[in-house]
Amino acid sequence: MIKKGIILAGGYGTRMSPLTKAVNKQLLPIYDKPLIYYPLSILMLAGIREILIIVNKGQLIQFRKLLQDGKRFGVKITYIEQKKPVGLPDAFILGEKFIGRDKVALILGDNFFYGQSLTSKLKKCIQLNTGCKILVHPVKRPELYGVAEMNNRNKIKSIKEKPKKSKSNFAITGLYFFDNKVIDYSKSLKPSKRGELEIIDLLNKYKKKNKLKSEFLGRGAAWLDTGSIEDFYNTSSFVSALENRQGLKIACLEEIAFKYNWIDKKDIKESINFYGSCVYSNYLKKL
Ligand code: DAU
Repeated sequence: MIKKGIILAGGYGTRMSPLTKAVNKQLLPIYDKPLIYYPLSILMLAGIREILIIVNKGQLIQFRKLLQDGKRFGVKITYIEQKKPVGLPDAFILGEKFIGRDKVALILGDNFFYGQSLTSKLKKCIQLNTGCKILVHPVKRPELYGVAEMNNRNKIKSIKEKPKKSKSNFAITGLYFFDNKVIDYSKSLKPSKRGELEIIDLLNKYKKKNKLKSEFLGRGAAWLDTGSIEDFYNTSSFVSALENRQGLKIACLEEIAFKYNWIDKKDIKESINFYGSCVYSNYLKKL
């Protein structure tokens, strides 16, 4: 069972400059809450309560101000600064002490997931015994992502990072589940031509050992991108449309924790005080 999770929330967010010149991308709003709430809610929905957030140098204070130690929503959050965005597998090198002898999930701080039966899928993924599991989802423009080519038995045939031409439209989403070998495998990686440790090289290490498994997110699920300014607005519109229609919030961390019995009414009241008078607090009051 995987009990620990890492959120990689660093990077320069260059594609979104000047918005990201002074503020980390993961702290920018997706409709009514900061982007980081969404990947954090995914780990929480999976049942993961020990969480390491990796942020870029100098931005730790802002994350701490917002999420503190996670007690408010029933989880334990620790933070590490990444000096430079040298690649996704760096998460496991920086997070070595946090991971210890355990297995670990990784979610990219800019990934948005939503959908029916997502929670049961997540709970299945954290049952991982050995190897690595990735989640794949069809996209119109696979050249923007890591891509998995599947054989006719829906097993992974090959994986490539942002291929110019691809036979498959299955993108590898930014949510991964690993056994403890991930630390050693990450340490053994060499930087690619663009000077980064590549997640695809890490996944290929598992593939070579026949230990890379995949799962379809499923047609009823949404996996949205927040890579560009346009994507940010589209994802915000998606959240706004659903929340306003249903009167239910997506990624309300306190609501998830309350439903899982990780916190009680007193904790919710503390959160209301913390946020002050706002729409989010009004929603918490209704809980
Ligand atoms: O979103 C899924 C895709 O994410 C996968 O399909 C790709 O295989 C994977 O490489 C990744 O592609 P991106 O081009 O989206 O990765 P990007 O460099 O934009 O980084 C994703 C997030 O991780 C972003 O929020 C910044 C953060 N990051 C990135 C790097 C390289 C860090 O915090 N530290 C880093 O060193």
